Amino acid sequence: MTRKVLGIMGGPCLDGNTSALLDAALEGAKGAGAEVERLDLVRMNIHPCLACRACDSGTSCAQDDDEMPEIYSRITSVDAIILASPIFFMSLTAQTKAMIDRCQCFWVEKYVLGRRRYGTGPRPKGLLVACAGSDKAIVFEPARHVAKAFFAAIDYEWSGEVLLPHTDDPLLEPRKNAALVAAREAGRRIASD
Ligand SMILES: Cc1cc2nc3c(=O)[nH]c(=O)nc-3n(C[C@H](O)[C@H](O)[C@H](O)COP(=O)(O)O)c2cc1C
Repeated sequence: MTRKVLGIMGGPCLDGNTSALLDAALEGAKGAGAEVERLDLVRMNIHPCLACRACDSGTSCAQDDDEMPEIYSRITSVDAIILASPIFFMSLTAQTKAMIDRCQCFWVEKYVLGRRRYGTGPRPKGLLVACAGSDKAIVFEPARHVAKAFFAAIDYEWSGEVLLPHTDDPLLEPRKNAALVAAREAGRRIASD
């Protein structure tokens, strides 16, 4: 059966480094035979979580007047998600975080109600792609924690990350090219493992 790989672009610049790395990862997945789709959160209407607690009882999210249902249906039907975000103030972008917070219903399902969507079988895979302007040693740490918590909540298997630090570097090109190669390879891997 053809694998489905979803790219979620959480950055607002659709012609930036993060976008290019996401496309490279999706290209790699496509080259491995997967059916790929990319959603750009900046073009979507996704409200933040209101902590209404409706999902505490295991129901779906009570907000039904935005495009989050499209994301829910992909999460439960694809074989892998590539989550791409630049680093904004040491973390994922607001668009990405809003989408993640709205996945609290999956967190309740797994951690409160103890329902494992995939049982003991193979789980879908989650890959993080991120870019940061600086080369601070810890610049990706908060984003990594959030992305890992997201993939764990939706019961996906963490499949690693492709990171490009120091995009402010005037000599970025060779490192960017290497990151594009790594992204293509990571996309190929999550579509074929
Ligand atoms: C609002 C904002 C906050 C940012 N915060 C950080 C930060 O905390 N650390 C960092 O290294 N770069 C930061 N940056 C720089 C971006 O991470 C960097 O420019 C990145 O390459 C942008 O992604 P893009 O190339 O896909 O557009 C920030 C940029 C913006 C616009």
